[in-house]
Amino acid sequence: MDRARPRSGLLIAAAGLILAAAAPANTPRLRAMHWLAPGVDAARILTHEPSECLIVPQEPETAYRIEIGRAAFRTPLILGGQAARTGISCASCHRNGRTNRDFDFPGVSGAPGTADVTSSVFSAHRGDDIDDPRPIPDLGGLKSRLKVSQDAASPALRTFIGGLVTEEFDGPAPPSAVLDGLVAYVRALSPRDCDLTATPPIRVAGAIADVRRAIRAARSALARGDAATAVVMIQSARSRLGDIAERYAGPDLAPAQSAIRLAAGDLTADLQAVRQGAADADRRLATWQARSEVWATAVKRDEHQSLYRTANIRSGR
Ligand code: HEC
Repeated sequence: MDRARPRSGLLIAAAGLILAAAAPANTPRLRAMHWLAPGVDAARILTHEPSECLIVPQEPETAYRIEIGRAAFRTPLILGGQAARTGISCASCHRNGRTNRDFDFPGVSGAPGTADVTSSVFSAHRGDDIDDPRPIPDLGGLKSRLKVSQDAASPALRTFIGGLVTEEFDGPAPPSAVLDGLVAYVRALSPRDCDLTATPPIRVAGAIADVRRAIRAARSALARGDAATAVVMIQSARSRLGDIAERYAGPDLAPAQSAIRLAAGDLTADLQAVRQGAADADRRLATWQARSEVWATAVKRDEHQSLYRTANIRSGR
């Protein structure tokens, strides 16, 4: 318990300004630095993450749900309020579906790696004014260590995640397929055949693959007549493109960065088409996918200069 921690959004904003002012001018501003414990090796942490430990079955319906959930898990926009504005998604706390030992958000965390998910910072519904930070559980670890039943016959996990989104994080009720997807994704995380201690490097190829997977999932949702879910998938792809763009800072990388921003701009137009139920929405997404080959090649080529490299973050490049 640490009742002295600031709890209001205003105080957090003020703390952010102070941090920004205190940082050396050449410190790269990756968003995730805002919820990193002080004194840690930020450069290493932000370029490595735990293995995902995901098992995707052959069965197409389950595989579809997992892909929806995987993209939603990485989208701040499915959470509402302060979390979405700050850029926090499920994956900020559960990195790659796992845990985040270095998570430290003022007013939400106690010791690093903990969070109070009933904190009033994130929720107008459940904010209970009681500081109760808990360790962020490793969702890819042994299911027997977790509290909420993941039994396929039990509704507990769906109820829990639905409550997380709408009450703890003040998000709008997600489309039913998105909630089913989050449940399927969490269930598909498993320590079987996975090295739980590994922290492989984060590479731009992985981030680009995430973007493409989200767009594929959007097209599958459209094919099922589920435009609301397709919208969430396109939003996920766009926010992942934003994650890539912020790592391509600096004049040398301007062409790659503007190509990424252009691709994100195209998705904004496609999103509009999906929202309006345009007949050519799927064709537009197919065109986007085909075009992505070109910018992806250029972006991967410049990766060594980007903030995907630990040394570039260290040197304040
Ligand atoms: C701010 C950090 C944070 C975010 C964001 C977050 N979680 Fe969690 N999550 C936690 C913490 C802390 C717990 C443990 C709560 C407890 O012990 O009461 C938890 C618990 C869980 C559990 C239950 C684990 C168990 O023991 O059975 C699941 C499932 C889960 N989260 C999924 C999600 C999903 C899905 C999202 C996004 C919609 C999400 N979390 C977003 C921090 C977070």
